[in-house]
Amino acid sequence: MNDMNKATLDYYVELIDNKLLELTRSKPELQGQVVEAMEYSLQAGGKRLRPVLMLEFCRMCGERQPEKYAEIACSIELIHTFSLIHDDLPCMDDDDYRRGKPSCHKAFPENIALLAGDALNTLAFEVIANSAMNGVISADKAVMLISVLARAVGTDGMIGGQVIDLKYENKEIDVDTLNILQTCKTGALIEAACVMGVILGDKLEAIPFAADYAQAMGRAFQIVDDILDVTGTFEELGKPIGSDSEQHKNTYVSLLGLDKSEQIAKQLTVQALGHLKYFEDSVFLTELTSDMLTRRS
Ligand code: IPE
Ligand code: IPE
Ligand code: MG
Ligand code: MG
Ligand code: MG
Repeated sequence: MNDMNKATLDYYVELIDNKLLELTRSKPELQGQVVEAMEYSLQAGGKRLRPVLMLEFCRMCGERQPEKYAEIACSIELIHTFSLIHDDLPCMDDDDYRRGKPSCHKAFPENIALLAGDALNTLAFEVIANSAMNGVISADKAVMLISVLARAVGTDGMIGGQVIDLKYENKEIDVDTLNILQTCKTGALIEAACVMGVILGDKLEAIPFAADYAQAMGRAFQIVDDILDVTGTFEELGKPIGSDSEQHKNTYVSLLGLDKSEQIAKQLTVQALGHLKYFEDSVFLTELTSDMLTRRS
């Protein structure tokens, strides 16, 4: 990534990291442990890809100060972190490490980790609603954002994808079903991030272009995640390697092999970049999208 784009990425990530810290600042005496668990997982790192996408789509739609929506951008990171905490639980992927640290249920009791995930889920919607109450966005906009996010989390989105993922453990899957699994599991939150950015940037006619970009980019992103589960190292990824085959998961790699998976991820990235042409000044996102293809973490 060139120096200017790297500076933009660092700026966004710092903005998000600081806002996230504010959201879990207060730790009530009686129930503070669950807030500690939320903070533990939020502060463990992570690329912050989804909030960066939201802020950048907002900027590409003409907003000169996307940073004023940093708290709203955190909503998607709260949901994503909730999904990771639950994804690692023994009843799900049973993974002991996340973002280079023991998973939430390893650092805290399992019941607290479960509840921390639940609380992150509701906090995301509280943050958006509060932004309307504080006058940062209109009530109409808040309703649109909440509608997009809720759908992306629920049975037609991330949660639905996780259900299909579990249903097909140890079972054969076809490519069409794997694509549906992925579109829900990973694609839905990435699409919500991009579409929410367009809504914040007040350019509703751009939603289909943002959605098309996100679908192609989201699938490429999950294919690379599947590839890295085989070719990455724990040091690079901060999460266990080989988890998919251990859990008998159906992934692009298990179904199509490494070479074909890499080829499809490349094709999807080219498609995603094509959808960015609609937007003026997509220089930063073009480079970020290409970098996601060759990422090692
Ligand atoms: C991991 O997401 C889970 C997937 C949906 C593939 P990320 O690779 O964005 O994880 P963090 O946020 O950087 O830890
Ligand atoms: C999980 O996919 C996607 C979520 C909805 C959290 P994975 O199970 O492949 O994600 P990692 O590899 O554990 O991050
Ligand atoms: Mg999983
Ligand atoms: Mg997992
Ligand atoms: Mg994975």
